Amino acid sequence: MCGIVAYIGKQTAYDIIIKGLKRLEYRGYDSAGVALHNSKSLNVYKKKGKVADLETFIDDKDISGSIGIGHTRWATHGPPNDINSHPHQSGNKDFALVHNGIIENYAVLKEELTQRGHQFLSDTDTEVLIHLIEEIYTNSKKSLTLFEAVRIALNEVIGAYAIVVINKNNPNELIAARKSSPLVVGIGEGEFFLASDATPMVEFTKNVVYLEDGEIAHLSLETGLKIKTVANQEKTPYIHELEMHLETLEKGGFDHFMLKEIYEQPQSIHDSMRGRLRSSKSMVSLGGIKDYEEKIVQAKRLIFVACGTSWHAGLVGEYLFEDLARIPVEVEYASEFRYRNPIINEDDVVIAISQSGETADTLAAIKMAKEKGATIVGICNVVGSSISRLTDCGSYTHAGPEIGVASTKAFTAQVTVLTLMALMIGKKKGTITNQRFNRLLVELESIPEKLESVLTLDSVIKKIASTYKDSSNALYLGRGINFPVALEGALKLKEISYIHAEGYPAAEMKHGPIALIDEEMPVFVIATQDTSYEKVVSNIQEVKARKGKVIAIITKGDKDVKEIADHYMEIPLTDSLLVPLLATVPFQLLSYHVAVMRECNVDQPRNLAKSVTVE
Ligand code: F6R
Repeated sequence: MCGIVAYIGKQTAYDIIIKGLKRLEYRGYDSAGVALHNSKSLNVYKKKGKVADLETFIDDKDISGSIGIGHTRWATHGPPNDINSHPHQSGNKDFALVHNGIIENYAVLKEELTQRGHQFLSDTDTEVLIHLIEEIYTNSKKSLTLFEAVRIALNEVIGAYAIVVINKNNPNELIAARKSSPLVVGIGEGEFFLASDATPMVEFTKNVVYLEDGEIAHLSLETGLKIKTVANQEKTPYIHELEMHLETLEKGGFDHFMLKEIYEQPQSIHDSMRGRLRSSKSMVSLGGIKDYEEKIVQAKRLIFVACGTSWHAGLVGEYLFEDLARIPVEVEYASEFRYRNPIINEDDVVIAISQSGETADTLAAIKMAKEKGATIVGICNVVGSSISRLTDCGSYTHAGPEIGVASTKAFTAQVTVLTLMALMIGKKKGTITNQRFNRLLVELESIPEKLESVLTLDSVIKKIASTYKDSSNALYLGRGINFPVALEGALKLKEISYIHAEGYPAAEMKHGPIALIDEEMPVFVIATQDTSYEKVVSNIQEVKARKGKVIAIITKGDKDVKEIADHYMEIPLTDSLLVPLLATVPFQLLSYHVAVMRECNVDQPRNLAKSVTVE
């Protein structure tokens, strides 16, 4: 949450920062701001609203200078307004700071600083930090460099931060630091970039350094990049090569990133399996977990930790692992898990699932599990992300950058990797017959093609969307491995169209939610042909008997549900364990079209941010 971009070099900093902030808007869009140094003055411009509003505000202002910092905000402390927007300045206006994270002890620090004469303009925790830095620097009577002053200040801070500081008196340095919030340094020819992720720098450099927790960096065109820990230990920067392509960050002719990402799924699922699955050779291999394969095979239990959509992927994983690998699985909301004093021991394997790899609750959960001796496996999309670096081993989902705030292709890629993992472990454990293993490999390989045919349902789904776009509520039902699909369908609808929606196991409907059903209530049901088909048909009858509207996802060729449902979406036949990979997609399209028809901001739904770096 909150996006940071900074630049020092020879280009116009403003252009790079604004473009970068637009790429990072998925992290928050309550307000935006920049501080630009033009060799004479430090100009700070900030505005409530999106980066585009900031651009309009800045239209007639001085944007010159080749060093600057920028920020796009997801509000934590204080409402979204101009004053609370970043950058925040020190009392003497010599320094400006952008921040992503939360300074937990800001109230105590603010009280102390106020007593010593500091006056604050905003409600934010961030402003406190820049005043603290100013005080340490000023009190040292210039015996400290700004870099040292920042380092000392950070030793007094409790909480999470990625920060960048710019200095009015030295237009040749930027100071950056991180703890629990991400920060990437890009190294170009005679220029440096800083950002919350690598997307703002990808067209300028492929060489990046991911700052580690507790590190502070000094960036200068004269002295280069220097890194220390906040405890004052010198560090040698480790340069990674980025594998990201510019075109993956653009809409490519689609109206929204979300639609593009929905349509990318045949390819992204294919990419998740690339080099890992070959049915002709009866082969599944995930190189990233190979060294820990035995540990997983021997695990007494698996614990999935995740949030939101990734948690839904974990629920699908539970069915896959219990069925194919016969290992007991618990699926935990990362935020609940860590506050429960859970029983974890060395035979447990914790699998963290996260698109961004930065979700604060998931990070904290795995840190705790690691301390208790569990083995930690990661399933992340963003390469080099904090979670991927903290785990013992893991598999990237390789879905490519997901920019729409609502997760789509990341979910199906997570489910694909979980399927590969469950197959690999099941095979090694001998809990799956060769025949079933081979059949599943062939089926899995055919999913991208089957998904292409699911996407041709778009016009049918658009019609269904227009029928139900004005609903106030919706119910999503599924059984077994399709129950998480119902949860995910409901989450997609509520988060982007603001229609209240709930997902339920179909059989649970009669224990409460059935009271909600009347002729106004759309009930979306996954009624594909598998072991629970007959039961789901009965559940549909129960809805119809109460005049509810049924919109069913059915297997191509189905007759019974077709007859009783008000609308249906036909998907190709596949193994029941793989249905979630197909059945999720019509619900994604449905939510997308409903949201567009309701004129909602599909890619940036209200109050949300994609990378949730606060707990
Ligand atoms: C919903 C959505 C969120 C995320 C959740 C976890 O569409 O995107 O629910 O799934 O915030 O994020 P990651 O996967 O980045 O840990």
